[in-house]
Amino acid sequence: MTPRLAGPGDAFHTRHASPEARALPAPPDLPALIHAVTARYAGASRYTRHYVRTKLRRDPATGAILALARRQGGFGAVADLGCGRGQLALALLLGGGATSIIGLDHDAPSLRAARHAGTGLPARFDAADLSAGPLPPCDTVLLVDVLYQLPDAAQHDLLARIAAAARRRLVIRAFDPDCGWRSRFGRVMEVLNRALHGRHAASIRPMPLPALRALLELQGFRVSVMPCWAGTPLPNVLLLAERGAG
Ligand SMILES: C[S@@+](CC[C@H](N)C(=O)[O-])C[C@H]1O[C@@H](n2cnc3c(N)ncnc32)[C@H](O)[C@@H]1O
Repeated sequence: MTPRLAGPGDAFHTRHASPEARALPAPPDLPALIHAVTARYAGASRYTRHYVRTKLRRDPATGAILALARRQGGFGAVADLGCGRGQLALALLLGGGATSIIGLDHDAPSLRAARHAGTGLPARFDAADLSAGPLPPCDTVLLVDVLYQLPDAAQHDLLARIAAAARRRLVIRAFDPDCGWRSRFGRVMEVLNRALHGRHAASIRPMPLPALRALLELQGFRVSVMPCWAGTPLPNVLLLAERGAG
């Protein structure tokens, strides 16, 4: 049986309870895959090597997104928007969950690390500002921990553009602002993280899940939401929006 990772009194289950609201178990071959991905960052800085390894191992998004790709028969051509150092996209590619990757980000050092790690693979990492401009056509848009960092208007605009760019589905890891103590804790962590990295101006504007869901349903997607916080006190959820399903 797939374990429900939230407790019975958890706000998520009273508001979102549905057959899809189950955390996905990580694939059994995850440790070997993480090893293969981290090996590709061997030439990167010590910080990047540590970041990539720790992020892949500890963030429940890694296992959940790889498992989702497997359950969906692969994500096909993936556009990873706000790809950072590209480790999640490369894990998808090496694990057979994607046929190709285009990663977009505005952070030059992260892109450099991603490009180097993706050498020889069907993966491209380009500089772009997600708040403007065209997006590459793809089967699946991956948007992990990015949306809430944009101003409100830019979030709406990006959602409309990803809905137009994705032929099959959107996979969004989102911050649920209405998840009780988890949301309060998550917000404190975001403020501390910004202070630590001198990014005081970056916004923390998580869109309420019902609004996010309604917006994508209006564009013709069938939306399901599942918790993506296993083992952490964070309010992270994984939203899958499938075109024309159901
Ligand atoms: C929290 S990180 C997540 C990185 C990656 N998705 C992951 O899961 O490892 C957010 C990323 O979004 C990027 N980002 C934020 N705003 C952006 C914008 N307007 N245009 C392009 N990239 C942006 C940042 O540079 C950063 O790499």
